[in-house]
Amino acid sequence: MQKVVLITGASSGLGLATAFHLTNRGYFVFGTSRNPDKFTQPVPFELLPLEITDINSIETCVAEVIKRKKRVDVLINNAGVGITGPIEELDIKAISSNFNTNCFGPLQMIKSVLPKMREQSSGTIINITSIGGYMGLPFRGPYSASKSALSIITESLSMEVKNFGIKVVCLAPGDFATDIASRRYHSPALEKSPYKKYKESLDTMNKHVDQGNNPNEIAIAIDKILSKKNPKLHYEVGSFLQKLSKTLKKILPSRIFEKIIMNHYNL
Ligand SMILES: NC(=O)c1ccc[n+]([C@@H]2O[C@H](COP(=O)([O-])OP(=O)(O)OC[C@H]3O[C@@H](n4cnc5c(N)ncnc54)[C@H](OP(=O)(O)O)[C@@H]3O)[C@@H](O)[C@H]2O)c1
Repeated sequence: MQKVVLITGASSGLGLATAFHLTNRGYFVFGTSRNPDKFTQPVPFELLPLEITDINSIETCVAEVIKRKKRVDVLINNAGVGITGPIEELDIKAISSNFNTNCFGPLQMIKSVLPKMREQSSGTIINITSIGGYMGLPFRGPYSASKSALSIITESLSMEVKNFGIKVVCLAPGDFATDIASRRYHSPALEKSPYKKYKESLDTMNKHVDQGNNPNEIAIAIDKILSKKNPKLHYEVGSFLQKLSKTLKKILPSRIFEKIIMNHYNL
């Protein structure tokens, strides 16, 4: 039976690469965008409108998948946005909006597919988090925190739904060359800001994304995860150093790790 996959945020970057790859691998893929009309070229997968911060939009989207295919085998919670800025200068509304997109929206997606997955006694949920969610990074605190929150909730969810035959996985990418940097919310690097290093750090972050790995690596990793009978709870996909940072944080004294990160960002 052809497995039905729902990928949020399939209009660009990691989601688009994954939608193409899984379609080629024989999955029936529904990809979402806030504005499917913006696709100028036809794509080989189905497109559905979705605004992940809107509960009605989420329910309509999931209902449409179930109406058309009578099932949902895989949810890939991929839609997400970046946010940068010194915590003191970041608007609390912008932080809240980032959590809505990166954490609460994906949670609502999960809540909406679970009844069908429980009925089927099967399903896989893959939450796209970030290696940056394993640690507080300077000028990216709310982004790291939103991904970290999703990662921790994934651990709880996994234990709650395992007995229903549902697998839950976190996939944390390192830097990948997508357009995410151009869509980030930026607190303005104010002329009079005392956080002189923010602008420089922002340039470093953007350079890391631009020089990041190929999004197809994520698509291939997801394909491999889906083929496993017993996938791990956490996967990291990215450069060797980015993957190593998770282990370094665990084994190094916390101030030494902090110093390494500060040196990395020239702080
Ligand atoms: N690229 C990286 O280096 C990197 C690293 C770690 C983690 N990640 C994570 O990987 C995921 C994909 O990122 P990407 O790099 O592929 O970014 P991207 O190219 O900017 O794609 C983001 C996708 O999310 C969708 N989206 C954004 N806001 C949305 C909203 N409010 N409602 C519904 N959909 C929304 C966008 O769709 P529309 O605009 O068409 O609605 C778009 O398809 C994100 O969760 C990101 O945090 C990326």
